[in-house]
Amino acid sequence: MRDGLASVTAQRVAAYRLSFDRPAVPFGDAGADERLAADVAASASVEPSERMGRYLRARTAFFDRVVISAIGRGIAQVLVVGAGYDGRALRYAKAGVRWFEVDYPATQRDKLARLKRLGIDAGHVTFLGADLRDAGLASAVAAAGLEPGSPCQIICEGVAVYLDIAVLQGLLAELRALATAGTRLALSTSVSGSLAEQGARERFRAAVAAVREPAQQHAVSAGHRRAAGPRPMAYRRVVRACHPAGLRGGRAVVSTAIPPGSACRPSGRLALPCHGGRSVRSG
Ligand SMILES: C[S@@+](CC[C@H](N)C(=O)[O-])C[C@H]1O[C@@H](n2cnc3c(N)ncnc32)[C@H](O)[C@@H]1O
Repeated sequence: MRDGLASVTAQRVAAYRLSFDRPAVPFGDAGADERLAADVAASASVEPSERMGRYLRARTAFFDRVVISAIGRGIAQVLVVGAGYDGRALRYAKAGVRWFEVDYPATQRDKLARLKRLGIDAGHVTFLGADLRDAGLASAVAAAGLEPGSPCQIICEGVAVYLDIAVLQGLLAELRALATAGTRLALSTSVSGSLAEQGARERFRAAVAAVREPAQQHAVSAGHRRAAGPRPMAYRRVVRACHPAGLRGGRAVVSTAIPPGSACRPSGRLALPCHGGRSVRSG
C-alpha cells in the first residue's frame, strides 16, 4: 500500500459500481451513495474491462443482498472491513442501524473529506482507521462502540485478496471474537481456477501491483496446499458454494460465523476448516 495515500483499487471499484443497477429499498439514501461514487469516479482512472465489470456486478449484487437481508432480519450493527468507498452505509441507512467502517486511515480521511465536501451526513457511521495486518481489531471496534453481545453483519468485500494467509487468519479470529449468536460474516476471496482464469488473475495481479496494492492470495492458495495441517479454506468447495450465491465468476464465499465458545457443528452446503479448529459454514 502506498504510504499515506488513498486506495486506488477502492476508487476503481466505486467507479465501476456507478453503472450497476442496485436493489431499491424503502429506506436509505441511494442518491448519497451515487454522489459519493461519482465524486470518486471523477478522480479515478479506470479502463473498463468487461470481465472485471461482470465480476464486480455479481459481487456487488451479492453483498447488497447480504446487507438487505441482514437489515430485514433486524440486525442493528453492520461492520464493513476494508470498506474503501463502499456507500452501502448511505444507500441502506436505516433508523436504528449502526455502521462501522474499517480501512487504512488515508483512505478513510479521503472518504470523510469527500462526504464533508458533498454535504453528505454520515453520522450513523463510525469510521475506524486501522491496518488489518495489526492485531487488536476486535477490541478497537468494540471500543468504537460495536456491541459484541449483539448480532452483527460483517462484510469483507474485495479485501481478503490483499491479505496474506496469516493476516487473513488473524483477521478471521478477530472477527470471531466480535461474533455472537446471529452474527454473520460474508467474505469474498480469491481462488485458483482454470488456465484461462489464471491469465485473468495474472492481469489483475499486475494491475494492482502497478498501483502498489499487491494481491497476496495467489501465493496463499499455492502455499497453503503445501502447508501441513488443515487448509484454511477448501477452495474447490468454496467455488461450488459461490454458484448458488450468484457469484459464478466471483470467487466468493458466504459464511456464517459460529460464535466463540460454541460447539463447532458445521452444516449447510459447505464446511470450511478455519482458524483455531473451528469452522464456518455457508449461509
Ligand atoms: C478493492 S478495495 C475494496 C473496497 C470495498 N470493500 C469495496 O468493495 O468497494 C480494497 C480495500 O481494502 C483496504 N485494505 C487492503 N489492505 C488493508 C489493510 N491491511 N488494512 C486496512 N485496509 C486494507 C484498501 O485500503 C481498500 O480500501
